[in-house]
Amino acid sequence: MAELKVIILAAGKSKRMKSDLPKVLHPVAGRPMLQHELDLVSKLDPVEIICIVGHQQDLVRDAFKHYPKVVFVEQREQLGTAHAAAQAKDRLKDFKGDVLIINGDLPLIRPATLERFYTHFRATKAPASLLTATLMDPTGWGRIIRDGSGRLRHIVEEKDCLPEFKTIKEVNVGFYLFRASELMPTLDQIGTGNAQNEYYLTDAVQALFLQDKIVETMRVDDAQEVVGVNTRRELAIADAIMRGWIMIDLLENGVTLIDPATTYIEADVKIGRDTTIYPFSCIRAGVKIGERCEIGPFVHLRAGSVLDNDTKGGAFVEMKNAHLFPGAKAGHMAYLGDVDIGKDANIGAGTIVANYDGKKKHKTIIEDEAFIGCGTVLVAPVRIGRGAATGANTVVPKNKDVPPGVTVVGAPARELAKAKR
Ligand code: UD1
Ligand code: CA
Repeated sequence: MAELKVIILAAGKSKRMKSDLPKVLHPVAGRPMLQHELDLVSKLDPVEIICIVGHQQDLVRDAFKHYPKVVFVEQREQLGTAHAAAQAKDRLKDFKGDVLIINGDLPLIRPATLERFYTHFRATKAPASLLTATLMDPTGWGRIIRDGSGRLRHIVEEKDCLPEFKTIKEVNVGFYLFRASELMPTLDQIGTGNAQNEYYLTDAVQALFLQDKIVETMRVDDAQEVVGVNTRRELAIADAIMRGWIMIDLLENGVTLIDPATTYIEADVKIGRDTTIYPFSCIRAGVKIGERCEIGPFVHLRAGSVLDNDTKGGAFVEMKNAHLFPGAKAGHMAYLGDVDIGKDANIGAGTIVANYDGKKKHKTIIEDEAFIGCGTVLVAPVRIGRGAATGANTVVPKNKDVPPGVTVVGAPARELAKAKR
């Protein structure tokens, strides 16, 4: 197979978002849009992913500086999508493979669609190919213009669209494949003679057509994948669609969601079979939950939380970077931050793990079978030994570790056994 380089167009001003944050950093299902695209294109094992950045580029560079194979190229002025793609010229010098160019605002294209697109392109001799979709409402999209024999001829942008073309429902999705040898010479021919005075990447189609080179197309069957995020309204739609897919995957893999309509689950969440998620649960990106767990209602499971098999995170429990070992239970109203909770430990209602001293976060360890009484405050860093217990409303100060098997009470905590002596 030929080598592949990817260009992601992510330099735009995103005026329609009305945001200080670059559009590609806005999250969809809890992960930046650009991350979804990077994860997607990485599946094709490209040799390089060239991100074209401009508007607020420092934030974009910083967010993905460690992402494998990514290089950033600046587009100083945002003069259009063809101009953006042309910034990759130096990185494509002497490159003989294929180039995938994608808009930075299409987070919902699925791996199977991209794989089909690439396979289809490899099977043709076409200079280029692009994805199209048929939309009920094509407003705002570039329209696909075909000649009498159905060959792609031209793409017309909404703002340049004659009334007779506005009714065309087949649109340009914003995913393009080029033979590297065809790309730069074609981009060089594109001018700015259009309503927006911009260099349109879509004009590559006509430039090639005029040389008798026909650009291929492949249709995306599921229009849900084709949401271009230009506005916050489209962002909300994309977010809802992706979270819907996430929940369908979980249901198909043996997870019970009592009420999907009130359940919020972000990307990269893993949940084991026979776990039940009660309504109004909010499970953030990357959280891992084992088998046979009981989650919710009204839980907030935040970044870094891992709940092993047979654990419980009940009503009004918030966890951040908490690890519940098998059988550990937090049934009601608790904040558990930066804490390991050992096997079969029980966390009473109203327990707070105070992980933040105003400057730094500290870690707490609750060992196996510990019993934390209602209303306990554990001030981190602190360790509660195996099988130890705290009475109701106990405050355990930082570094005042409770030895295994000992029961402490009071605020601040004092050892119950010694008090009796
Ligand atoms: C573009 C297509 C349109 C297609 C639609 C689908 C063109 C001319 N039009 O329109 O046919 O239906 O996408 O998604 O390409 N960008 C830059 N530098 C620039 C301009 C844009 O990097 O100078 C980036 C943006 O950040 C964005 C992408 O290119 O990620 C597309 O730009 P956008 O303005 O959203 O294009 P559309 O108007 O949606
Ligand atoms: Ca767009």
